[in-house]
Amino acid sequence: MKPACAADVFREETRPWSEPHSVSARSSGTRARTYNGAVSDELLRFRPEFPILDRTTYLISNSLGAMPRGVFDAVHEFAEIWATRGVRAWEERWWTLAGEVGDQIGALMNAPRGSIATHPNVTTCQAVVASCFEFSQKRNKVVYTDMNFPSVMYFWEAQRSRGARVHMVPTDDGITVPTERLLDAIDEETLLVPISHVIFRSAYVNDAAAIIDKAHAVGAHVVLDTFQSLGTIPVDVQALNVDFGCGGVLKWLCGGPGTAYLYVRPDLGRTLKPTFTGWFAHENPFGFETGATRYTSSAYRFMNGTTPIPALEAARPGLRIVAEAGVERIRAKSTRQTARLIELADRHGWKVNTPRDPDRRGGTVSIDMPHAEDVCRELLKRDILVDWRPKAGVRMSPHFYTRDDELDTAIEAVKEITVASVRS
Ligand SMILES: Cc1ncc(COP(=O)(O)O)c(C=O)c1O
Repeated sequence: MKPACAADVFREETRPWSEPHSVSARSSGTRARTYNGAVSDELLRFRPEFPILDRTTYLISNSLGAMPRGVFDAVHEFAEIWATRGVRAWEERWWTLAGEVGDQIGALMNAPRGSIATHPNVTTCQAVVASCFEFSQKRNKVVYTDMNFPSVMYFWEAQRSRGARVHMVPTDDGITVPTERLLDAIDEETLLVPISHVIFRSAYVNDAAAIIDKAHAVGAHVVLDTFQSLGTIPVDVQALNVDFGCGGVLKWLCGGPGTAYLYVRPDLGRTLKPTFTGWFAHENPFGFETGATRYTSSAYRFMNGTTPIPALEAARPGLRIVAEAGVERIRAKSTRQTARLIELADRHGWKVNTPRDPDRRGGTVSIDMPHAEDVCRELLKRDILVDWRPKAGVRMSPHFYTRDDELDTAIEAVKEITVASVRS
């Protein structure tokens, strides 16, 4: 018996019930540009949901979002089901879980129900997309920038051996992406444009709409990596008309490691045939048919082997909280708090490697002070959780659960550490 599967969004006739979850602006893929202090304070009501906030100054959601206490129950329930239901769990819950979590994620980016496959990480999502295409034709150019996350870059560079002609557009300043040069590089021979929506190093918000428009004008497809955007800036895949979207839940979505998502635009999803495939993508997986696959028409079409159930269960509480908090409100608060961090960094004369224009800035502020790597290490010892990245500095990422005074605590600590290191 085949358990019920995720929504059949790629079948034309099922589209009518694929209601959009929200409406959005097209311009840069971001909305909500004003700050409302009262709304921001209201977000602090979620603090008790995150145990680590009692023990640390948590400014690291760009790397790993705080764990919601609900994850204890979710993981316990997973163990309970495995222990008591055994193999029946597949039919009763686990087979459809990836589709349900996919829809939870999709609701945050206005994706139609059933258009999101899940994978363990973004690199796998890129591989699934790549496997839908051939690089032996004239249209085999892959255009991206050196500001992409390195794992994504390594993956596409490796596709040269399959015939991909990789064209990397370099940044001029280490912060922004030269949009015009990127657009010029996307030409009639371009097949794919894998780009980050928000740059991990600098939090620069790429002009996704312009890139997608140019790509479509010349017949290319865009793979938008929303790892650093979804959950902190509004993303609307339908308004952007993006071809593919991917990211993970472990940062701004507080969903822990092991769950990433792949959105495929439904009209493409109905026709593409990923060669990186497996039995979860089969129309009749429990028929265990031999020979070539017969692709299912649901989001599972872009999946392959057995899904990581514990990770999917752990992802759910964070997704629920982020949905309740509301990405618009999160964005408004983030814009204000990142501006505050920039102001404090300026006051101390430290270099800010993040855009000052709030519309072009994601949720992180990268600050390069003297001996930044050592400063980061010392902050961690003091339970102020941040990270350090080469060519960026110390990255600080307030999220909806961050109090304003925590920004001052972090900056004061940096000041103390830098003064002490000058003295010693
Ligand atoms: C923009 C972006 N893409 C991808 C990744 C990670 O990729 P993967 O899920 O393959 O580890 C990160 C960070 O971890 C990132 O910031």
